[in-house]
Amino acid sequence: MEKKIEHGISFNPSFKKIGGVADRLAGIEEYYFSTKLRQIDEMNKAGKNVINLGIGSPDLPPHPDVIRTLAEEAAKPNQHGYQNYKGSPVLRNAISKWYQKWYQVELNPDSEILPLIGSKEGIMHICMTYINEGDIVLIPNPGYPTYKSAAKIAGANVQSYTLKENNNWCPDFEELERLDLTNVKLMFVNYPQMPTGQLPTNEMFEQIISFAKRHQVLLVHDNPYSFILNERPMSLLSFEGAKEVVIELNSFSKSHNMAGWRVGMLCGAKERIEEILRFKSNMDSGMFLPLQLAAAKALELDQSWYNSVNAVYRKRREKVFELLDLLKSSYDRNQAGLFVWAAIPGKYKHGYELSDSVLNDSNVFITPGGIFGDAGDTYVRVSLCATEEKLDEAIKRIKN
Ligand SMILES: Cc1ncc(COP(=O)(O)O)c(C=O)c1O
Repeated sequence: MEKKIEHGISFNPSFKKIGGVADRLAGIEEYYFSTKLRQIDEMNKAGKNVINLGIGSPDLPPHPDVIRTLAEEAAKPNQHGYQNYKGSPVLRNAISKWYQKWYQVELNPDSEILPLIGSKEGIMHICMTYINEGDIVLIPNPGYPTYKSAAKIAGANVQSYTLKENNNWCPDFEELERLDLTNVKLMFVNYPQMPTGQLPTNEMFEQIISFAKRHQVLLVHDNPYSFILNERPMSLLSFEGAKEVVIELNSFSKSHNMAGWRVGMLCGAKERIEEILRFKSNMDSGMFLPLQLAAAKALELDQSWYNSVNAVYRKRREKVFELLDLLKSSYDRNQAGLFVWAAIPGKYKHGYELSDSVLNDSNVFITPGGIFGDAGDTYVRVSLCATEEKLDEAIKRIKN
């Protein structure tokens, strides 16, 4: 083997110590949007002024009371120290009341709630807490890409379960039962579903819980969209005996326009919270207290807050329907969440082709459905996080 000597030290130049990333990152690429945003940035620098209908980052502000609470609390001299690893009792109490009021779920604020720095980090914490090398994790296809990458980083073998339009994007339980489930440790579910916008039904939730109980699989229900364009927010924890097998992630990002604040929550049985805290308390040192107090304020908002947010999205959605009609794409009008999911016309092989053509011809970015798994290959996803003016401009550009 070739050896080199530098500064009197002999080394093998093909063995890369600096910058040689860990094996656990094999097959893990930079997040799709992180690279796509760089491309859009380049296009903007070249004067293209791209309209980005990709990401679901709410463009509206939180309620003024929430911002006021943050500012007032941040101005106090004694609010700047490290915080409790389990989150402020004020926030945990507010989360407990919110779950009771909107989801009819009883949660003990002292033991069944863990505030998070965004629900995305909770996905990683759960994987790191429960997965051993070689355990199997079930993830939805199409689904939020982070389930797969977090599970893989933690050492899992990922097995996707396909959601199909003709089955209302629900898991196919007969197909699931045919799998060898012996080593399945975790299953991610997410309704209202991203990217398809599918709402849950009682029957489907009952089936999921009974499947998990039968096979002793820990269910992770990711629930950030239940208040967006949905009259009936549902929690998987509201079902009889659910706490035995369910942990639920929830988020302030979409429902309260606080995506950049990074605040979410994890709810479940006391034992699960303690297990996950064993990992999480070694990762971070709590959240800025004024932010937690402002988040608690957000949870006190009444129905009129959710109505006002949804009134805006409902109007925008009509424009997105118009845009999709122009692209000859078909969609269900009853989707929940921050996006519209649409099947592309037959002349395109896949959503990447349609997305590239709209980006190059019209300087409008829409997300190819394939980034959510191959079951999304012939779909695109359009975000509602753009003003009506921007959507009108996007429509105009596509028409031309
Ligand atoms: C399905 C799903 N889960 C989780 C998240 C992460 O949300 P948060 O901002 O709470 O980390 C997103 C964000 O886009 C999402 O779409």
